[in-house]
Amino acid sequence: MIYNDILETLGDTPVIQLRKVLPTPQDRIFVKLEGANPSGSIKDRAALNMVIEAERSGRLTPGATIVESTSGNLGKALALIGAVKGYHVVLVVDPKTPQSVLSYATSLGAELDMVTEPDANGGYQATRIRRVQELVAQLPGAITLDQYNNPDNPRAHTRYTAPEIAKDFEQLDALVAAVSTGGHLSGLSAGLKETFPSLHVRAIDAVGSAAFGHPFAPYKIRGIGLGWTPGNLRTDLVDSLHRVSDSEAFSTCRVLAAEEGLLLGESGGAAVFAALAYAARNPGSTVLAMAPDTGANYLYESYDDTWLREHGTPPETLWHGRDELLRHARSPLYPALADASADSAVSSSATPTEVYA
Ligand SMILES: Cc1ncc(COP(=O)(O)O)c(C=O)c1O
Repeated sequence: MIYNDILETLGDTPVIQLRKVLPTPQDRIFVKLEGANPSGSIKDRAALNMVIEAERSGRLTPGATIVESTSGNLGKALALIGAVKGYHVVLVVDPKTPQSVLSYATSLGAELDMVTEPDANGGYQATRIRRVQELVAQLPGAITLDQYNNPDNPRAHTRYTAPEIAKDFEQLDALVAAVSTGGHLSGLSAGLKETFPSLHVRAIDAVGSAAFGHPFAPYKIRGIGLGWTPGNLRTDLVDSLHRVSDSEAFSTCRVLAAEEGLLLGESGGAAVFAALAYAARNPGSTVLAMAPDTGANYLYESYDDTWLREHGTPPETLWHGRDELLRHARSPLYPALADASADSAVSSSATPTEVYA
């Protein structure tokens, strides 16, 4: 297959059916591997759509500078897009940004701006965003795409990812997707609820994230969660919330790698864990879990026993093997909110704090 440039390879990512790790044999659980996108994650879709729409509106002009806060995948996507389309990309990163992300970005010509002051949560997200605003004010013609609030982030998924999924399924009972900016969850829910009117959309957050109004506490799963509720999170399009712990996500990643040959990123592990929990309560359902990136990004972190020991989650504390994982999926440490309540639907008018606190 011949392409005009690497960006044309975006999308049409594979969907893989789980064969062995199933709560009941009649369950149909699928995983969409967004790690197959050109820079290795679902963020290629949001980044490219935000760039194209900024070009269309005239906000982004040839050769201009794009400044963005990122701890990972969005930065890789923008570095790649900048290289192909000729933009100067400045990524605001922090001391926790993995070396593999930094090296990927600089190899593609992006510039790094490192913040070192932790924010009130002890993380760096808020400090990074302040630094982006400073740089945009300082650098002539610079813009930021603001993935947390830019509607062209979820729109990428309503316009392109949702039809791709709709093409693959005659019937879909549940979609399970992890949240950070809310971009793919909100965009997919908006698109797929049109095609599958009874679709149940389950959001996944990390235990410790404040995205759905819970108090913030440090956690290790990367790529998921936030210290605040992002503008792109449409809770009115969410039917239930499942908060997943580090060990639930890491255990799922390892079991899926060993049993199904699927090397998922940590947020993909979280989504599959929640999909298994959903299927355990709704036997025989057709469920799609989004896997936003690949486990190749975490080989020297949560896939590595030494790293786990050094970061307070010894491998012995994870669950090993399909049976143990499925036992925990049937009784997750933090059951999904809709399952826990008598009324299983999340009210569309409720604010995140009312619904999820
Ligand atoms: C690995 C990973 N998982 C999940 C997400 C969450 O995606 P979204 O920003 O669309 O909510 C991201 C976003 O950066 C990510 O990089």
